[in-house]
Amino acid sequence: MDENLKKEIENRRTFAIISHPDAGKTTLTEKFLLYGGAINTAGSVKGKANSKYAVSDWMGIEKERGISVTSSALQFNYEGYCINILDTPGHQDFSEDTYRTLMAADSAVMVIDASKGVEAQTIKLFKVCVMRHIPIFTFINKMDLEARDPYELLEEIENVLGIKTCPINWPIGSGKRFKGVYDRDTKKISMFQAVSVGGAKSAAETTYDLEDEAFKSEVGDELYDQLMDDVELLDGASEPFDQDLVDKGELSPVFFGSALTTFGIETFLEHFLKMTESPLPRMSDIGLIDPITEPFSGFVFKIQANMNKAHHDRIAFMRVCSGKFDATKDVFHVQSGKKMKLSRPQQIMAQDRKVIDEAYAGDVIGVFDPGIFSIGDTICTPGKKFTYEGIPTFAPEHFCRLVALDSMKRKQFMKGVTQIAQEGAIQIFQDYNLEMSEIIVGVVGTLQFDVLKYRMENEYSCDVRLEPLPYGHIRWVKDPATDLNSIKCPSDTKKVKDMKGNPLILFTNEWSIRLLLERNEGIELTEFKKN
Ligand code: G4P
Repeated sequence: MDENLKKEIENRRTFAIISHPDAGKTTLTEKFLLYGGAINTAGSVKGKANSKYAVSDWMGIEKERGISVTSSALQFNYEGYCINILDTPGHQDFSEDTYRTLMAADSAVMVIDASKGVEAQTIKLFKVCVMRHIPIFTFINKMDLEARDPYELLEEIENVLGIKTCPINWPIGSGKRFKGVYDRDTKKISMFQAVSVGGAKSAAETTYDLEDEAFKSEVGDELYDQLMDDVELLDGASEPFDQDLVDKGELSPVFFGSALTTFGIETFLEHFLKMTESPLPRMSDIGLIDPITEPFSGFVFKIQANMNKAHHDRIAFMRVCSGKFDATKDVFHVQSGKKMKLSRPQQIMAQDRKVIDEAYAGDVIGVFDPGIFSIGDTICTPGKKFTYEGIPTFAPEHFCRLVALDSMKRKQFMKGVTQIAQEGAIQIFQDYNLEMSEIIVGVVGTLQFDVLKYRMENEYSCDVRLEPLPYGHIRWVKDPATDLNSIKCPSDTKKVKDMKGNPLILFTNEWSIRLLLERNEGIELTEFKKN
């Protein structure tokens, strides 16, 4: 066994940060990078989720991001670990890519705004983590502002997301009265001390024992008594820490802190690194592929088309799943059956994009795609031939009818819409019964509609109109052989098929889904389609 390879892989941690916009994902990411020494000042992480982009800015955004490479994966080193953070864009940028990124992560950190609790987008992303059974860590952020009752927050996570929680530390007050956190394992208190937003990377925190008189006098009787009650209650009534359940994604370790003031970040990182594992074996059509003993392999989870009309170049993002990637060696693209060298492989260190010579299981690399890769493709060492489990298709939530304004350009229109759909940014559907009918486009985030229109006009010279449709939910019928005409559908639904002919139903609301299930006994619908 190559000991160096083993060490490199065992030191790797690859996780995604998920949150509803504004909960503090960008700030937390930035603080992680500060700790890793990968950046020197806060405010360096680009692509802030809460910036609002107009369509006209879109090309500019892409340029600024360097084909989005900068906002896709960040790598930094911390205490001997090599950590990969996968970015999951928010707001309008929210797209199917956001979900797919979670397929490349080994664990997820869920950031929750302490004054708001579980929000809509957190729920969506969380569902994908649950589907994958990956460990989920919770960081309850913004404790320096008035927060909701911590018990209430935990209860909401348990009820809304259906996961058990285990607080690793516990807050003492919040907002102006935020005093710090109590570590349930070491039984020590870290006193809150805000660090200026700019350069400083860590604060020397004052720590106390629970019984320390100085601590008592600093927090005052009320908060002290409250903490003593909390400690007793938590030890008696909360879920005990169970690493097995954490590994299976059934129990979420919970941390309280304040990303902006750099409080609770180091504690979080340290526990997180201990509670997570290095890349684990991944399932393929020939069984589990071991990350250490098997030679190089990986899969493509995201394809980013450049907006440069003249070049049409694309970057494929690959998660390395086993062994070591060596840029000088040939690889085998299983789906095309071709041997090749991956051109210009690149990796990100904070803001810098750099061409790399090697990468290890756990890393994410971007490679130039001459148009041969599709999402979910497997790349391995020549001589090996297997495919990793496919990446599911996720349910779009916004639908439009796409109309070509010039009927003479039907061929061009179909070429454009099909190619854009192949890149995975949009999904296209047709009426279940009518051949050559209208095209219905479904997207996960509405920005994709604007991008579609822009690209159809600029890249395919096809002027199009998008007519909004009232549907907001889609379900695949689990058995693809089902004849949709035999199903009793409520009147506000639409029967469609995807480009592979799979039957689907569009719904305007959840209620309508339940009604259909009641009317058609035995029918099974699914929200994710396993490819
Ligand atoms: P996101 O990526 O999840 O969308 O959130 P982001 O980090 O951009 O944070 C959203 C806002 O919340 C930012 O303020 C950020 O400074 C603030 N914030 C993040 N963490 C904390 C925290 O622990 N405490 C407090 N008090 N605020 C926090 P903004 O005004 O929208 O942006 P900016 O002008 O500060 O950049």
